[in-house]
Amino acid sequence: MKVVINQPGCVGHARCHNVAPALYPLDDNGYIASSGFNVPKGQEGLALRGARACPERVIEVRDAPAETRPMAPEAG
Ligand code: F3S
Repeated sequence: MKVVINQPGCVGHARCHNVAPALYPLDDNGYIASSGFNVPKGQEGLALRGARACPERVIEVRDAPAETRPMAPEAG
């Protein structure tokens, strides 16, 4: 699972950081200091919660495992 962050779109809400400080570090001005990362095993839920916490929706999650997706459609 991967997180891609549209860094220039960050306006410094810091909600991502409040949810998951280690995954979403802020720079000295309070903006997101990362443009993306591969999510460490076991941190998927946390990464997803941090991404959803951003009101600007600048944090995109790719290849989320099925169990962390809200209301994933049943296969078949
Ligand atoms: Fe920026 Fe959104 Fe986090 S605006 S600091 S990416 S909550």
